[in-house]
Amino acid sequence: MKSSSAGTPTSIVIFGASGDLTERKLIPALYTLHRTGRLPGPLNVVGISRTTFSHEAFRDHLCEFATEVLEEDCNNDTWNDFAQHVYYHVGNSKEAGDYAKLDEFLQSLEKGPANRLYYLSVAPSLYMPIVKNLGKQDMAREKDGCWRNIVVEKPFGHDLESAQELNDVIHHVFDEHQIYRIDHYLGKETAQNILFFRFANTIWEPVWNRNYVDHVQITVLEEVAVGHRAGYYDHAGVLRDMFQNHLLQLLALVAMEPPASFNADALRNEKVKVLSAIRPIQPKDTVRARYEGYLQEPGVAQDSMTATYGALKLFVDNWRWQGVPFYLRSGKATNTRSSEVVIQFKSPPHMMFNQLTNDGSFKPNTLSLCIQPDEGIHLQFEAKVPGSHQETRSVDMDFHYLESFGTGSLPDAYVRLLLDALNGDAALFTRSDEIEMAWRLIEPVLDAWEQDNTPRLAIYPRGTLGPIEADEFLSRDGRGWHAGCEDHA
Ligand code: BG6
Repeated sequence: MKSSSAGTPTSIVIFGASGDLTERKLIPALYTLHRTGRLPGPLNVVGISRTTFSHEAFRDHLCEFATEVLEEDCNNDTWNDFAQHVYYHVGNSKEAGDYAKLDEFLQSLEKGPANRLYYLSVAPSLYMPIVKNLGKQDMAREKDGCWRNIVVEKPFGHDLESAQELNDVIHHVFDEHQIYRIDHYLGKETAQNILFFRFANTIWEPVWNRNYVDHVQITVLEEVAVGHRAGYYDHAGVLRDMFQNHLLQLLALVAMEPPASFNADALRNEKVKVLSAIRPIQPKDTVRARYEGYLQEPGVAQDSMTATYGALKLFVDNWRWQGVPFYLRSGKATNTRSSEVVIQFKSPPHMMFNQLTNDGSFKPNTLSLCIQPDEGIHLQFEAKVPGSHQETRSVDMDFHYLESFGTGSLPDAYVRLLLDALNGDAALFTRSDEIEMAWRLIEPVLDAWEQDNTPRLAIYPRGTLGPIEADEFLSRDGRGWHAGCEDHA
């Protein structure tokens, strides 16, 4: 079933209505879509949770959050217009008996055939019970020309086996075309732009390969620590939380072959192909660390060995990338918030200038794709220092989203992803084989880290760039980490 036909009601059913994600992301995104006239109508948004709320109290509660998140007072006519379509339903998502009541309530709002988007914004342990109960109550079957889609949040499984089991359970009830597995990094404009940058221009592709690229770095560093999320994070750690999904997705966008067309299947086929070409990652090619004070975070087990920082090197064994290392790193409680991809090109084959930079080194060209903050793209190249005989200095060609497209040009990822799920466009969602492929790559590293305690867990002070082991890791290859985006802010 493709997109909503005009006039057919659509219900968005959010399981986990009183959770953080609903309040901070989903409702502000839906309100933004309503304000800009992009939601299909007539629309009902129904939140489900066990907490008792009246419709009115739920709307007021959401308004407070939306005001805070969107930094504008939502208590206005547009909000009121949106809020009158928002409802609250008390229900226990584990109780099969509650689904008949939910279906009845939805039908009372829909008053006839309607499309439905089920959104699982709940603890992962509830994904299977909810899907099974939707199946039992026949709430997943597409009928009367109306669609039924389901959005599943991350984490999608805890390892390969649990991800496969979850896929199996969901496939019993929903067809793959109805399933939207979220990775919010794909909803970021700057991540999508990697594809446009590569494939809507002619000048990059000829050099985007082993002949010209020395190596690639993908970094997602965060200033935030684990905070109140230890209940989840202490069992997940950085590999499950960031690498299995966000970092591998960025890598796939950077390394994939051009799809023949910009549609969900073509795009996801190419992503699966490139993920399948990654050579098994060796534990010796990884760094594992946690920040000082992690054990004192509320909810963290005293004997926890969870890593909050990881770095690894991998190779894509195909014609384009043979021998080119990809270095990935991510960590919490660092001194910066920065997500970026840096392509470092090879040095020129012959250097005819004998006086190089004033610090004596000669910098190869780098291209920095800045995902966030200060979203943009920078190409660094060498220029002759005016007045000098042969001295060069690195200079920069710059593109900043805000300068080119203005403030407000970068909506929150959930705005785009919710709209796509409503329109039946799964291009920015991960397919079952893609998720399983990513687990296949990460799982041996998880096993080495968690079962064999290899490599040993390093410690880094909060508010730094991570452990010195990560610097040594790159310097062993004669390379160093770039702060590609910060250098050009
Ligand atoms: C989430 C992780 O998926 O992504 C968080 O669970 C992390 O731990 C977050 O902080 C990072 O997202 P962003 O958009 O802030 O880079």
